[in-house]
Amino acid sequence: MEEISEAVNTAPGVNALQAGVWTRLAKRHGTPLLVLNVRQVRLQYQRLSDALPGVQLYYAVKAFPHPAVITTLAELGCNFDLASSGEVQLMRDARVEAGRCLHTHPIKSDREIRAALAFGCTTFVADNPVEIRKLAQYRNKLNILLRVSFPNPGARCDLSKKFGCAPADVGSLLELAASLKLKVTGMSFHAGSQVPGPEMHVHAINQCIQLLETYREWGKGSLRTLDIGGGFPADYDGQGPDIDDFCKPMREALAGLPTDIRVIAEPGRFLVAAAATALASVIGCAERGGKPWYYLDDGIFGSYNGIVTENARYPLVPLSGEGELRSSVLAGPTCDSFDVLTEDLQLPTLKVGDLVAGLFMGAYTYSTATNFNGLPTARVLVQGLSDLARRKVSGARSR
Ligand SMILES: Cc1ncc(COP(=O)(O)O)c(C=O)c1O
Repeated sequence: MEEISEAVNTAPGVNALQAGVWTRLAKRHGTPLLVLNVRQVRLQYQRLSDALPGVQLYYAVKAFPHPAVITTLAELGCNFDLASSGEVQLMRDARVEAGRCLHTHPIKSDREIRAALAFGCTTFVADNPVEIRKLAQYRNKLNILLRVSFPNPGARCDLSKKFGCAPADVGSLLELAASLKLKVTGMSFHAGSQVPGPEMHVHAINQCIQLLETYREWGKGSLRTLDIGGGFPADYDGQGPDIDDFCKPMREALAGLPTDIRVIAEPGRFLVAAAATALASVIGCAERGGKPWYYLDDGIFGSYNGIVTENARYPLVPLSGEGELRSSVLAGPTCDSFDVLTEDLQLPTLKVGDLVAGLFMGAYTYSTATNFNGLPTARVLVQGLSDLARRKVSGARSR
């Protein structure tokens, strides 16, 4: 992690000033780079907090598991959603208290459970009998949120395909937990990542309200938490709704909850997507099949793997180039033919050393990049850290 001082604006579209700043950074630090502007993270956190008043936010660390993001959000009072012992370690390094963390992975090994318990996590998620039985031996140390499934094929990642119980199975899972003397404290769902609209969140909230009412007396009234998950969309194409408008129907649905129910959410993408810009250099050029091909030093096996795993379409902008625009191919640096970012992007003529910026590259990019072919992943440059966060981040790195 390196910190930079230039003002980097990650709003959509690139003006000459931005292009100049990024070009200087690339020259000084080399590429591939991910320029992370934590000021944008603060702004996103504020926007979502304002749009969901009364909802406690737990940042889904998996989206951009970096000390600069964690310390920045911790400073603002954000809590954290963890899913592995690696993410637990990030909390330890950043000195985030366990009381601010949930463990939300519905399926985990006993070793992972013990690592989270040793840290001090007390809330875990389960969605099936095997998982509930797995947790029973730790009954005195933890409580459970039951994850309910609300499939959403319209989302970029339908997270109810792999996880969650049917609403109709909630009763039998509660009975099983009671028979094992496990405490269930609420319900959770994930309406899908990068959802097209708030409809599935609203449907899930309404269904959970009914379930919470049906089981109101269960466990002496222990069901007191509703976790509405993540899914809040990043505005990749600049056409998306304002987050306040997006959340309005959810606010209205949440107003139907009994007042003694605590509501929490686990946003990942929305908090970080707009905060990072990827900078890659052209490392090779060829003419193939009547089209120019430009090979970059970052690609599908690096920061851009969301293009394949979640059909992401990041805005791609050349920072230089000459001549008329032509339909061009942008490819990544590995030997795999699969490593192609786009086969049809209108680009000027580029040469080796020219730069291409990827906008909205903060979510599931840094965290999912690989070293396939022995190639390095993008280096992270951080901009906008507070003095306190800067001290904590360097402390975390030296421990
Ligand atoms: C359990 C859980 N919570 C929260 C998130 C974050 O979702 P998003 O990035 O769509 O906000 C995810 C994403 O995979 C998840 O699996």
